[in-house]
Amino acid sequence: MRQKLFDTLLLIAFSTVAVAALAQPPQLINGYEPKWWKEAVVYQIYPRSFKDSNGDGIGDIPGITSKLDYLQKLGVNVIWLSPHFDSPNADNGYDIRDYRKVMAEFGSMADFDTLLAGIKQRHMRLIIDLVVNHTSDEHQWFVASRSSRTNPYRDFYIWRPGRTAPDGSKLPPNNYPSYFSGSAWTYDAKTDEYYLHYFAVKQPDLNWANPKVREEVFSLMRFWLDKGVSGFRMDVIPLISKPAGMPDLTPEQLKNPSNTFANGPHLTEYLQQMNREVLSHYDDMTVGEAIGTTVAQTPSLVDDRRHELNMIFNFDAVRIGRQGGEGPRGSWTLPELKAIYTAHAQELGKHDWDTVFLSNHDNPRLVSAFGDDSAAFRVPSAKLLETMILTLRGTPFLYQGDELGMTNYPFHQLSDYDDIAVKNAYQAQVASGKVPADVFFAATSKIARDNARTPMQWDAGPEGGFTSGTHPWLAVNPNSKSLNAAAEAADPDSVLNYTRRLIALRATTKAFVYGDYQDLDPQHPTVFAYTRTLGPEQYLVVENFSSKPLVYTLPNNRKAAQQVLDDYPGPAEGNTSTLHLQPWEARIYKQ
Ligand code: NOJ
Repeated sequence: MRQKLFDTLLLIAFSTVAVAALAQPPQLINGYEPKWWKEAVVYQIYPRSFKDSNGDGIGDIPGITSKLDYLQKLGVNVIWLSPHFDSPNADNGYDIRDYRKVMAEFGSMADFDTLLAGIKQRHMRLIIDLVVNHTSDEHQWFVASRSSRTNPYRDFYIWRPGRTAPDGSKLPPNNYPSYFSGSAWTYDAKTDEYYLHYFAVKQPDLNWANPKVREEVFSLMRFWLDKGVSGFRMDVIPLISKPAGMPDLTPEQLKNPSNTFANGPHLTEYLQQMNREVLSHYDDMTVGEAIGTTVAQTPSLVDDRRHELNMIFNFDAVRIGRQGGEGPRGSWTLPELKAIYTAHAQELGKHDWDTVFLSNHDNPRLVSAFGDDSAAFRVPSAKLLETMILTLRGTPFLYQGDELGMTNYPFHQLSDYDDIAVKNAYQAQVASGKVPADVFFAATSKIARDNARTPMQWDAGPEGGFTSGTHPWLAVNPNSKSLNAAAEAADPDSVLNYTRRLIALRATTKAFVYGDYQDLDPQHPTVFAYTRTLGPEQYLVVENFSSKPLVYTLPNNRKAAQQVLDDYPGPAEGNTSTLHLQPWEARIYKQ
């Protein structure tokens, strides 16, 4: 009896403390609620290209597991795995046939579990790709959906009758273009209707207006969260709610269809339901691939009072200068890039959170796109870009191989490419006679997604140490003999070792996470100079975005104080306003 009374009192006392603790507002840092994912450095793995363990030429999950020590040493603490699910690979796994099965080429579910355990053992986390705007046409839902107009799965996808041209021929329901060339509609003779696919013909779009689709998606999300993954990168998530009525795009809208496709009328409703029913029950992170979303629209997806996503990828920086966001890159200037980061800092408040990245599996190599990948400047410019990504506002996302300064591939002909986007574009533009082949390849080679997808260069051996076989699925860059992880690990001044130092600095410096950002010299054509300030603590970052040396005087009599990191070896230059910068030199000062 006494014991029972004692237990009850203890329970009351404990509950009171617990309730009091719950009622405490979180301790803010510079107005931001601290979160593990705000402090994370994320590393993206494209499994097909990371490490092959069985000699079939295709990267796999045991291969990734074998490189976890490498990643731990690099210092990243979240891994984002591009799709690892069962797929016929029309778009390298972004066309999913079974969301609960591992792609056979990548291994088994047991291999996945071993990978996840290895990640956790090293105090890292894993996020996976959630690709639910569309499935594969080989997914059982679509197989059922296309079988008859009355099948219970018919409404899992978006079917419409066609239109009839004046000459009596069939036309798609509207003029939506696909991201992978041609119409976004494909006619299916079996039921005499068209289905919508924003991407490849083999990637039919799911119908999110159907509550059963949402339930299925939420269920598969729980499946992976219950396994222990820590969240999702959400593929083209603003596209899941389709424009009301789906009228034809106007000629103006056709210049950048994403802006119309994205952020449809029910997006908020779908994301809030997802958050309520799934995400809020886990300690997870979410990052939406926010194609077609402006920086001003970002809070409408990530403001933490809305309970939708934690952060998004905005493409203004990574696609700078590219026509319509998807086309070839024209010229761009450093002040334009700086203005993008300033806009982010102005538009995103203390309830929002940002990401910072300049590469991924859909973009050319970081150093080739934004630096100078010539022999003379590849190393310093790759280091400068890593400096920028790891010191700007937002959770940084690094793409595999950029920590080595891997470069674009010397593509020449169609057979050098694997990507469906390039193959379809070739058919639509060159085979049709609209664009000369040399013009097409000159533009494509610089922006092709396959630049980022060539295998990781692990060592100077055959096939860059990626595979023990002789036929990697995509050719290894010929520069792997000299540019590889083993050589860089042995060189204290390599991009790899510099990136390790940078990540270590960021890990111990909250100013780079929660600090305010100020661009000190927005109009300077080649210098990016900014501060990150957290209370009394301030860091100054100065980057020379050019292949020429430069004497640079900080504006407003500001002095650079104590140098803490430099991408060039040699004596530090501190306590001065005038900096003697080498080509692509990047310095970090503690003020
Ligand atoms: C965006 C992904 O990043 C890209 O690789 C893919 O092709 C499309 N979404 C379609 O899933």
